[in-house]
Amino acid sequence: KVLILDFGSQVTQLIARRVREAAVYCEIHPNDVSDDFIRSFAPKAIILSGSHASTYEDHELRAPQAVWDAGVPVLGICYGMFTMTVQLGGQVEAADHREFGYAEVRAHGHTKLLEGIQDFETPEKHGMLKVWMSHGDKVTAMPPGFKLMASTPSCPIAGMANEEKRYYAVQFHPEVTHTVQGDALLRRFVRDIAGCQGDWQMGSYIDEAVAKIREQVGDEEVILGLSGGVDSSVAAALIHRAIGDQLTCVFVDHGLLRLNEGQMVMDMFAGRLHAKVVHVDASAQFLGKLTGVSDPEKKRKIIGAEFVEVFQAEAKKLTNAKWLAQGTIYPDVVESGGTKTKKAITIKSHHNVGGLPETLGLKLLEPLRELFKDEVRALGVALGLPADMVYRHPFPGPGLGVRILGEIKKDYADLLRRADAIFIEELRNTIDPASGKSWYALTSQAFAVFLPVKSVGVMGDGRTYDYVVALRAVQTSDFMTADWAELPYALLKRTSGRIINEVRGINRVTYDVSSKPPATIEWE
Ligand code: XMP
Repeated sequence: KVLILDFGSQVTQLIARRVREAAVYCEIHPNDVSDDFIRSFAPKAIILSGSHASTYEDHELRAPQAVWDAGVPVLGICYGMFTMTVQLGGQVEAADHREFGYAEVRAHGHTKLLEGIQDFETPEKHGMLKVWMSHGDKVTAMPPGFKLMASTPSCPIAGMANEEKRYYAVQFHPEVTHTVQGDALLRRFVRDIAGCQGDWQMGSYIDEAVAKIREQVGDEEVILGLSGGVDSSVAAALIHRAIGDQLTCVFVDHGLLRLNEGQMVMDMFAGRLHAKVVHVDASAQFLGKLTGVSDPEKKRKIIGAEFVEVFQAEAKKLTNAKWLAQGTIYPDVVESGGTKTKKAITIKSHHNVGGLPETLGLKLLEPLRELFKDEVRALGVALGLPADMVYRHPFPGPGLGVRILGEIKKDYADLLRRADAIFIEELRNTIDPASGKSWYALTSQAFAVFLPVKSVGVMGDGRTYDYVVALRAVQTSDFMTADWAELPYALLKRTSGRIINEVRGINRVTYDVSSKPPATIEWE
């Protein structure tokens, strides 16, 4: 296994991710673990991460001496390169200017780490790599025994190696995707240089996670708020695998779920997994509290607060629960400031169950905290959840509540649910010939929005005066920015025809052609 020592970089988790992609097991630990810890961990290789501070002088973080005594390959990345340099007798100096972003690095001296790894075909760029740099200082003198491995015009020592000791260091970040050959480089390090087998898979992750959950929880009980979303579903399946009936899932139906969603969640968890699931139908209570409220932020706050109340009431009925499980995944940790600086202004107050652990006096169990979304999905499939469920588009906590503009009424929710289901069905059934994928797979999020305005139509011989539905489909990689999807006209035509014919009460369908920014993905 590989040990990653974290010096506080925002992208340390990406190193772990690349190592996992090379099918090698790894763990991240803080840079100041003890020498004893390192000896008992017995790593086959050690990676020293970058750091959030741009300059070397900002802090005095060092790798424990045991790193250098372990006799295993060490890779220093960015700050990791600085600390390797200084600890082994070289020199780091403040640079005149920061280098940030894209750079082309030239490889030197045929090192095992970079040999044969390159980005360009042309002779004049032979041996060059497209990389991503972010640093203020630079190495000005390599430690004894090191040779130059890579350089750029502004950073003459951008990589160095002591091949006898199998120590390597790079100034750039191989873990980010902007460094095109980054995954090849990390793979080379852990597989070829360190000799790790490459036999680790999601299946082994399950075994390790199960063991860890059992150890953490012991014979105490756990509750988990099931939302039907991917993250809480995968967390539930994993924890259920570990502790069976010591887990109770609470599924709160706020009346703003998608068509048949409640049934689907119950079939899956109670029916197929035989998990303990409490299904709370709180729709009347939620819709009651929302009567007469049309301000989007107020609606969100009410739904959030009500959710906490219902969940809390259920939790109190379980006398032995000591743990609250959540499907927090790594990007949530970053976004909520777990590793990052303060969040920007609130555009929309997102609803989650934060705050619950304190009021309930429960300990937090978050088994997905280190995984990225696609890894969570792979884990879900490995746990036996249906791919349909695991690859669903994200659905916001407040549900249809933010997709019914203005005041929420049950009738509106019923109309919207049916229109939305037709849209999703058509997206799933329409295959793009170029890619062979369905339009559901080709979009990141797609849904219908209910507009509480009436327009005139004609149906058969009669005049209609009914509501409008807007369709929204976007493509995005991070949901921070998004493009509206260029869906085929034929698909839009079929969808609108079906909605107007099948959903009495809706006589007009529009397609939203706004990108984010300036529009957001949801309408409220
Ligand atoms: P916006 O509308 O801000 O949405 O562009 C970005 C992504 O976040 C989802 N979203 C939410 N998810 N609770 C959630 O769990 C919320 O309150 C919430 N509001 C928006 C939205 O569906 C999109 O994927």
